Amino acid sequence: MNIIMNQHHQSPQQRWGCLLFLLLQLHIHVGADGGDVKQGRYSSIFSFGDSITDTGNSYFISAELTPNCLIPPYGETYFHHPSGRCSDGRIITDFIADYMGIPHLRPYLAFKNGAVPRGSIQHGLNFAIAGATALNRTFFEDKGFVVDATTSYSLMVQLDWFKELLPSLCTSPSSCKQVLSSSLFIVGEIGVNDYGYLLEETTELQMLTPYIHQVVSVITSVIRELINLGAVTLMVPGSIPLGCNPAYLTLLASPNKEEYDKAGCLKWLNKFYGQHNELLQIELDRLRVLYPHVNIIYADYFNAALRFYRSPQQFGFCRDFIKVCCGGGGPYNFNETAVCGEAGAIACDDPSEYIYWDGYHFTEAAYRWMAKALFHGPYTFPKFSFSCITPETSADFNNHLMI
Ligand SMILES: *[C@@H]1O[C@H](CO)[C@@H](O)[C@H](O)[C@H]1NC(C)=O
Ligand SMILES: *[C@@H]1O[C@H](CO)[C@@H](O)[C@H](O)[C@H]1NC(C)=O
Repeated sequence: MNIIMNQHHQSPQQRWGCLLFLLLQLHIHVGADGGDVKQGRYSSIFSFGDSITDTGNSYFISAELTPNCLIPPYGETYFHHPSGRCSDGRIITDFIADYMGIPHLRPYLAFKNGAVPRGSIQHGLNFAIAGATALNRTFFEDKGFVVDATTSYSLMVQLDWFKELLPSLCTSPSSCKQVLSSSLFIVGEIGVNDYGYLLEETTELQMLTPYIHQVVSVITSVIRELINLGAVTLMVPGSIPLGCNPAYLTLLASPNKEEYDKAGCLKWLNKFYGQHNELLQIELDRLRVLYPHVNIIYADYFNAALRFYRSPQQFGFCRDFIKVCCGGGGPYNFNETAVCGEAGAIACDDPSEYIYWDGYHFTEAAYRWMAKALFHGPYTFPKFSFSCITPETSADFNNHLMI
């Protein structure tokens, strides 16, 4: 059983068919994404993570691996063709960028490959890549797992990419300080792919919980390194409630009804991801004491998404909200042998009626609601409010930037 997010293998034939299509379609998009540019408090966003926030990095490693996210019907909403995002349309970082008045984040590997001109990276770049783990590849290899190519792009590797990029962003210590202090760093969500591997080995909470410390400690190390480099505002999202995830619900299905909550989610699995979030928040508190001049914001993706299951109608989700929009049959419309993007899977008519797009990733609609929750609801701590981006502060900020 393979429950890594976004790890579906295909035959070589399928692969080349896809690549050809992609070269025609995706290429144009990666360098040319826009979005409304308004004035904001931050001039740029740097994002680290996995397929929840990848905006196309996986496209540039597709010789090694072709994630389904690069195949139609991915991207059918808004982009009208695959955009490198693992959703029908925009993802949470796109909406965060919209709120902050920053263009949608381009993938770092596009920049590295010359597809994004140097002059246009002042709004930041995205290092997140589908399938990425927090822990590095050797960790899984040492444990005897057959790991996927994407474990080569762990969080530490993404941090190294950021360090490689720095000379292109700024040239003197003072200019780097300026650039980094006016940037928002989004570190995560990451760790669900690590746990995905580990869940193949055991589903016993007692066996799994020790790994939480290891995953969280990588996240905190990366935060500390970013702070040492000059970051002053970091948003650190927690895990999503994977006990409600249709792929996990399918692959870890239990005949015991007691294991499910009222919404139909697996209680033990949500408890596990809740433990990850608890430890992460404890460690963030420690960092806040160590670095009082730094804003470390916890983003509660978990509870922001749990609302969908408590009152689906309020968000416009349909009666079948527990199923995925794009899938190949089964109780959750998730079929491991016919996942979204493959023959045998079809997309629903209106993805905005579903929480999940494929088995693993949310719809654009769900991501939009989650981003809204971060800016307008009680789902960030300390509160990261849209009101901090008032016209007055943005005017101030502009002056500051022109110096
Ligand atoms: C991978 O992680 C392990 C454990 O954290 C560490 O000992 C090792 O040096 C890391 N390797 C690389 C290449 O970063
Ligand atoms: C899963 O997909 C395969 C291949 O398309 C199909 O034969 C099978 O019937 C599907 N399973 C369910 C439960 O729909």
